[in-house]
Amino acid sequence: MERPCVRAPRDEGEETRQALAAANLVDEEYDIVADEESVFVPVTDPDAVPGEFEVVTRDVPTRTRQRTPADVLGFEPSYERLGDIVILDENDPDRAADIADAVMASDLPVDTVVNRASKVKGELRVRDWDVLAGDGTETVHREYGFEYLLDISTVYFSPRLATERRRVTEQAEPGDHAFDMFAGVGPFVVPFAARGADAVGVDLNEAAVEYLRENARRNGVEENVTAVHGDVREVAPEYEGWADRVVMNLPHSADDFLDSAVTLAGDDCVLHYYDIQHEDDPFGPGERAVRDAADGYDVTVETERVVRSYAPHELNVCLDVRLSR
Ligand SMILES: C[S@@+](CC[C@H](N)C(=O)[O-])C[C@H]1O[C@@H](n2cnc3c(N)ncnc32)[C@H](O)[C@@H]1O
Repeated sequence: MERPCVRAPRDEGEETRQALAAANLVDEEYDIVADEESVFVPVTDPDAVPGEFEVVTRDVPTRTRQRTPADVLGFEPSYERLGDIVILDENDPDRAADIADAVMASDLPVDTVVNRASKVKGELRVRDWDVLAGDGTETVHREYGFEYLLDISTVYFSPRLATERRRVTEQAEPGDHAFDMFAGVGPFVVPFAARGADAVGVDLNEAAVEYLRENARRNGVEENVTAVHGDVREVAPEYEGWADRVVMNLPHSADDFLDSAVTLAGDDCVLHYYDIQHEDDPFGPGERAVRDAADGYDVTVETERVVRSYAPHELNVCLDVRLSR
């Protein structure tokens, strides 16, 4: 439909939209459109548009769907969603700010936009964030029917591992003893417990353990969950020979914890061992490390799985390894 629109150069599109929105002139009944050079923002009252803007008549579609950040920007930005937080990975601060503005102007149900400000670091695997819009870094994330309350500024959490966590947790049977050595806020522990397993989660990060307890309550599985704050190397002897299943999701240094995993293992136990290795031999180093550590056990590698690409030529992998004696 032909409508009055403000025409702006593409690189000034978002700035223009904001100025018009501040003056309450953006016509929300119609989509903002763009061509190679310009962005066209439909306006409600062309006579009220300040003289610095050019008003033209343009065919614009009626808004029939929710407005996405791409509709506002004129290009498809890449971002991740975690609850009501949008996570960017942008090196250029101006581009990050434009995307954050567009996300907030879109119809996405978002409260906060952050940009990665560091790699995950230290033992707790937490990263720094630049908060670009909104102010809360705590959110509720939903994954395969479970809810996780977490604060990205104090705990590790990656929504990209959802499918992998489901693959592993679906292997648990009622009554299994499942031990997560690096449990975070509970995305393995809670589904294990929901399947009727007796689940123990340990983490060095006190904030993560508090969230794990809260998440067990939120998901109604607290009776099956024991959450322990501490270094798993010190906790493992208390559970010697207890586990039917052990999750080791600390991929850069899981091999340093294999002795503790073997301490935890019962007579028949599956280790879910995460590793990051070169694509030329992604599973060999992990298998050799487990065989070296599992003295007295028969060792069978049941699954070798590429979880995701981690860096050029490096893969994040999982080995499901059965130890029996
Ligand atoms: C990669 S995160 C995995 C968290 C969780 N499994 C998930 O999928 O979200 C690793 C976790 O291990 C914890 N961690 C690191 N060293 C530890 C140790 N020695 N004992 C217990 N937890 C440890 C960190 O605090 C972090 O929460």
